Amino acid sequence: MAGDAPETSDILAEVRDLAASAAALVRELAEEDVVAFERLPDLPAAEARSSAPPVPAATPAPTRPTKVAKSPPTAAITPAATIGGPVPWAGRRPELAEVEAHLGDCQRCGLCEGRSKIVFGNGNPSADLLFIGEGPGAEEDTRGLPFVGRAGELLTQMIEKGIGIPRSEVYICNIVKCRPPRNRTPLPPEVAACRPFLDGQIEAIQPKVIVTLGKPAASLLLDREIAITRLRGTWQDYRGIPLMPTLHPAYVLRQYTPENRRAVWEDLKAAWDRVQA
Ligand code: URA
Repeated sequence: MAGDAPETSDILAEVRDLAASAAALVRELAEEDVVAFERLPDLPAAEARSSAPPVPAATPAPTRPTKVAKSPPTAAITPAATIGGPVPWAGRRPELAEVEAHLGDCQRCGLCEGRSKIVFGNGNPSADLLFIGEGPGAEEDTRGLPFVGRAGELLTQMIEKGIGIPRSEVYICNIVKCRPPRNRTPLPPEVAACRPFLDGQIEAIQPKVIVTLGKPAASLLLDREIAITRLRGTWQDYRGIPLMPTLHPAYVLRQYTPENRRAVWEDLKAAWDRVQA
């Protein structure tokens, strides 16, 4: 009967839903570093004769996701207090300037070879809110300041127009202080070499809340590989400090969707509410 046929608008809505689910699945798989599905070998004859119901001839062979080491793992890194010797502030709260002075003209890992300027971090040394990104990009490397390129402009907007406070009120730094070549994800030894300085910054600032930007910073502080689109927006803990993982502004620029913008806004609002609680 014509009246039973689905409306075109229903079909379109269903197609849109399916496309959205497929896009979400692709994002999740990419985040898990799944890049392909590998065809599994056919079952041995004995298994094929098992009591399982017969598989119709047209059913494709089972597949399993293939993971590749697209980006090096950032979690499970040995705490690096020993790289370059123990820090002078061991067992006490350092001054931020002391941490920066100890970093000096750092040559502790290979990133020093390609850098123009060390990007230690900047902002309020007694900030309640600390943002931690991944590593300096080209503009940051030239200027010696964190988040001053395109991603930085978006971060600054989110802080100033979203939260409604001047950027100078918060503190912003990265897990590595020198630009990785071609903006690649920092390698575990590079992250490990910089770790005492990140920890020194956190100890000096003692923020009320930490916001990590993107997967590497959250994975590092939580000491496990996380899937950022799944973990974002959920409260975590870093040595007693509430930690809010959110999307990296560079990712938001690449995937400039209302959902991603809303997600970051909600995470920052939750972080700021917690600061004020
Ligand atoms: N991306 C980062 O993670 N940090 C910066 O400082 C700039 C871009």
